[in-house]
Amino acid sequence: MKRTLIKNIGILQTPSGCYSHKGSKQGVNVKMTDAAIAVEDGIIKEIIEGGRLPEGDFDEEIDAEGNVVTPGLVDGHTHLVFGGYRQHEIAMKLAGAGYLDILNAGGGILDTVRKTREATEEELIQKSMGFLDEMVGMGVTTTEIKSGYGLDYENEMKLLRVIRELGEKHCMDVVPTFMGPHAVPPEYEGKGDEYIEMICSDILPAVRQENLAEFCDIFTEDSVFNAEQSRKYVECAKSLGFELKIHADEIEAIGGSELAGEMGATSAEHLIAITESGMNALAEGGTTAMCLPATSFYLDKTYAPARKMIEKCIPVAIASDFNPGSCPSLNLQFAVNLGCLKYKMTPEEVLTAVTINPACAINRGNIVGTLEEGKQADLVIWDAPDFEMVCYRFGSNMAKHVIKKGQLVK
Ligand code: NIG
Ligand code: FE
Repeated sequence: MKRTLIKNIGILQTPSGCYSHKGSKQGVNVKMTDAAIAVEDGIIKEIIEGGRLPEGDFDEEIDAEGNVVTPGLVDGHTHLVFGGYRQHEIAMKLAGAGYLDILNAGGGILDTVRKTREATEEELIQKSMGFLDEMVGMGVTTTEIKSGYGLDYENEMKLLRVIRELGEKHCMDVVPTFMGPHAVPPEYEGKGDEYIEMICSDILPAVRQENLAEFCDIFTEDSVFNAEQSRKYVECAKSLGFELKIHADEIEAIGGSELAGEMGATSAEHLIAITESGMNALAEGGTTAMCLPATSFYLDKTYAPARKMIEKCIPVAIASDFNPGSCPSLNLQFAVNLGCLKYKMTPEEVLTAVTINPACAINRGNIVGTLEEGKQADLVIWDAPDFEMVCYRFGSNMAKHVIKKGQLVK
């Protein structure tokens, strides 16, 4: 058995429990001073505070040097596996083209689909491993990854196999989501209904059969997939045993949040344009609001009403949405900064939003998302005396050391 001691923790700050936090509980964090953590074979064995040390001998000691320690961050929403990039869209944006204008002209997601179809599994794995390294270096220790740049049987399966291999090869814990309905592919132009039917009859059963995804997601959006097509898809996915996520109200509110709440989706994502009825549906459905502030920043849109959703007792999570189009940044710390500055969330609420709430929204709340005995020893030693400093020093990477399953990985 390997025993590791993490000592000299100035403040250990963490939400608690294996469930998501909402309302006033979203802002409740435990704060222990002069703390130490004993880890056995990657699992937290004991946490004590007040300058005392756990008993026994240790194979390794890690000195936190008086800094703040939190759980490893959980990124609950990424589209991390893709071919190419789309830096040329900057000029199109500057010339006034909107996100959906670019997509409807055959670019945007469809541009990435062309490049992703051309890429081999090995090329996608190499590129994505680099992204995962970068994320770990910034304090993220668990991430969700969506498919959705293949848009046909062969290429969606290819992406899901890549995602599975990333989880096997990398220290990052990876949770796979199938997102075949991310856009209507060129072969089905003008035939969104038929594309959804093909997904339901051909792709979803195969994904289930090979156990390649835990969640299913869809881009419910004006001129992408309408509410009726979305309902057909999520009903089919649910009947096959998948849990649900919906990209809802990113640009236009066309019923995505209402559908998410009604179907008991685990999370609804984006929510920039969410309405009162959408919020009521999420609250009733127990659906987590997965808010993506760096996407609002990059699309130059307004920000999801996260504060209001906390008041409405909807659990709020904050994720990166890393993808080549609407958010080419995987920096979850920047999303933390925006959570405070734009959503007006407190540092405690934001910590909950990037740890236990997304962990629960990807079904990992029982193993990660808080620092407690019995959970995985995934944690960040920040280059900061308190978490407020991390919320404040935007633009710098504040993660000093990152520990994954008890091992120092940064
Ligand atoms: O979450 N909106 C849909 N999907 C992504 C963007 C994908 C892309 O532009 O490549 C998002 O914003
Ligand atoms: Fe997304």
